[in-house]
Amino acid sequence: MAKATSRYVCGACGYVSPRWLGKCPACEQFNTFAEEPLPVLSAAKTAPKPRFSSSVAIPLSAVEREKLVRVKSGVPEFDNVLGGGIVPASLVLVGGDPGVGKSTLLTGIAANLSKQYKVLYVSAEESCAQVKLRCERLGVTGDNLFLLNETCLENIAENIGESKFVVIDSIQAVYTEALNSTAGSVGQVRECATRLMRLAKSRGITFFIIGHVTKEGALAGPKVLEHVMDTVLYFEGEGQENAKILRAVKNRFGSVQEVGVFEMTESGVRGMSDYAGLFLSDSRGEAAGSAVTPSETGNRCMMVELQSLVAKTAYGLPRRMSLGVDYNKLIVLLAVLEKRCGIPFLNADVYCNAMGGIRLNEPSVDLAVCAALASGATGKPVDRYTALFGEVGLTGEVRGVSFAEKRVNECVKMGFRRVILPNKNLSACEKYRGAVELVGVSYVGQMLKHLDLK
Ligand SMILES: Nc1ncnc2c1ncn2[C@@H]1O[C@H](COP(=O)(O)OP(=O)(O)OP(=O)(O)O)[C@@H](O)[C@H]1O
Ligand SMILES: [Mg+2]
Repeated sequence: MAKATSRYVCGACGYVSPRWLGKCPACEQFNTFAEEPLPVLSAAKTAPKPRFSSSVAIPLSAVEREKLVRVKSGVPEFDNVLGGGIVPASLVLVGGDPGVGKSTLLTGIAANLSKQYKVLYVSAEESCAQVKLRCERLGVTGDNLFLLNETCLENIAENIGESKFVVIDSIQAVYTEALNSTAGSVGQVRECATRLMRLAKSRGITFFIIGHVTKEGALAGPKVLEHVMDTVLYFEGEGQENAKILRAVKNRFGSVQEVGVFEMTESGVRGMSDYAGLFLSDSRGEAAGSAVTPSETGNRCMMVELQSLVAKTAYGLPRRMSLGVDYNKLIVLLAVLEKRCGIPFLNADVYCNAMGGIRLNEPSVDLAVCAALASGATGKPVDRYTALFGEVGLTGEVRGVSFAEKRVNECVKMGFRRVILPNKNLSACEKYRGAVELVGVSYVGQMLKHLDLK
């Protein structure tokens, strides 16, 4: 029998199969298998692997406590997301959509760090001249910041020298000679990440690794990429003028509750400490189809405006589109409004948008989405000074959510006069009754009545 020369690897989870499969048996995703040449063991691979720890077991009490000294990146918003600063010898993965500003953010951080430490910026995607152009735009200078245009991991490792911080832009463009597959393939990304991890731990180097995301918004490459990293951050935000949000999805040295709010300016990505009102429009309350909710994003509560447009369908099949709110959630809430509250969306195109390019993942936004949709459908605006929060179930019931007190507090701070919230959360917020009108609801229909949308 002819010897196999290739294998098939699942792009989502890294499952290996000798033949092509339509559905991955491990992660159950469809159409994720790609052909890859079988790995050839090169001299580098057969050489003994570097060892960075002694393999003798020691009792816990005998382990010496190390004082964790975090290094400040010079961007307080970034440090907050990391849990108070950069932990030396860690791997930080920054993922995000194309053009969101990953390279710009890390160039700024590399420049700040280079004031004290030797920093290497490895640009596998852009030439040194292009990086220099960006550095000039950002006003970055310094003899301690080194640029390297290289895609081979072995050459990168040779060039690290005394650098304490290394930026790899991006992991999908880097390859190792130990494997004969192309850069960006599942095997390459996994192997490169593992080798970088060994380098980080054995030589005390901190790596900032830029990663691309797939169309679905997940990091391109196998899940093992995220397992290898100490911290995984996502940089997200749409449009030039909108705020960008940096959030941690994994952090071995801190909470994943923090988020950083940034804005893209001519001179780089700038952290915004004053984000109040950023996700609200000036004209809210004038036109139908908008509602405001206090959203707990990370450790911060922000007032976010949700907008909807309900228009007559021109063709047979109605369109539904959502930005910033989960598409499936929009479909479910439309069905709830139609079935439980009698608002027809059957012949209507529905568009839903969270202002400012923010993505809202928590269930507490449901009630405000319903209010925005009902307002868009009926043409009656929601009062400018009313905010809503609560989770909506399939029977149309409004369920209690976490951080109710914090949300009401934010509404009070931002000058809202009425808050519609789940009855379940009412008792926890009694102390705000003097400052704001609290309206408890148990069903979506009650919320619609209070807002005069029925
Ligand atoms: N002169 C400029 N003034 C203001 N903004 C600029 C300027 N030049 C580029 N930008 C912005 O910088 C962003 C690109 O940033 P950057 O290259 O850091 O993104 P990236 O996430 O690294 O993208 P990629 O995934 O393609 O590498 C663009 O969205 C662009 O709007
Ligand atoms: Mg880039």
